[in-house]
Amino acid sequence: MEIFKTKSALKAFLKPLKASGKKVALVPTMGALHNGHISLIRLAQENADIIICSIFVNPTQFTDPKDLEKYPRPIEHDLAMLEDAGCHGVFMPGVKEMYPYGADENWYVNLGNAEFLLEGEFRKGHYQGVTQIVKKLFDAVEPDIAMFGQKDFQQVLMIKKMLTQFNLSISIITCPIIREADGLAMSSRNIHLSATDRQHALVLSKSLQFVVDHFDEYSLRELEEKAMSFYKNIDGVELDYLTIANGDTLKPAQSKEENNLVVLVAAKVGSTRLIDNMIIK
Ligand code: PAJ
Repeated sequence: MEIFKTKSALKAFLKPLKASGKKVALVPTMGALHNGHISLIRLAQENADIIICSIFVNPTQFTDPKDLEKYPRPIEHDLAMLEDAGCHGVFMPGVKEMYPYGADENWYVNLGNAEFLLEGEFRKGHYQGVTQIVKKLFDAVEPDIAMFGQKDFQQVLMIKKMLTQFNLSISIITCPIIREADGLAMSSRNIHLSATDRQHALVLSKSLQFVVDHFDEYSLRELEEKAMSFYKNIDGVELDYLTIANGDTLKPAQSKEENNLVVLVAAKVGSTRLIDNMIIK
């Protein structure tokens, strides 16, 4: 497995491979890898010849400087996991390599109204930062395909909007959410959960599963109300939103007949903010 710190070294590695017709997949990450990330690598292997994983904790997508500072960076462990998984190359640039003129450079791409809903409401500017770095990673790798997790449902939608705006022809593959045995969605942030938080965090997947399991029994708003009531009286858990939304617009679903319905949640558990979702249909 090769490690690259610069775009030029990465491009030099990829050039002959692309010339010989190899299909390249990019798996963008911020490190602190877990089996959710590795599932993206595995799906990439089924769909491409050369797998590049990027590890870069992107400063422009963090709205809280403390969150950026405490983001876990277990790099040796990450590299061992990627090597084990059979990844071909790891791109781990420094901040200067990605933002040569500083991370406060100008960037704006119109992502449509869904940018400002859900996560966009709670983390202002987050998707500008995400699309800014993903565009730079796409420019550096020029992959045929790129893998993203359904765990960050809104992120996938925003990246697809960015691709449309720039008329890029990279195929985006959305990978299912990998969960712990008890249902908690795997996340790099889970390591911040205390033993009590870890138990309390199960309310996210439980409340979502309730909506999926009881979808035929109640109205949309009743389902949301009942799912939200799971969060009452749990110490240290603060619900940001729980909504059944249209998966294309992210607006609250108006009818159970809509085609693409998803239930999404964000909650603070102790001092850790977690998100999760389940596709209803
Ligand atoms: P990060 O949180 O490291 O996630 C990297 C990728 O792994 C994302 O596409 C995410 O959706 C996916 N992922 C995370 N947890 C998962 C799980 N439990 N099951 C399946 N996939 C999971 O998302 C980012 O980094 C950044 O915003 C990034 C796209 C790299 C831009 O900086």
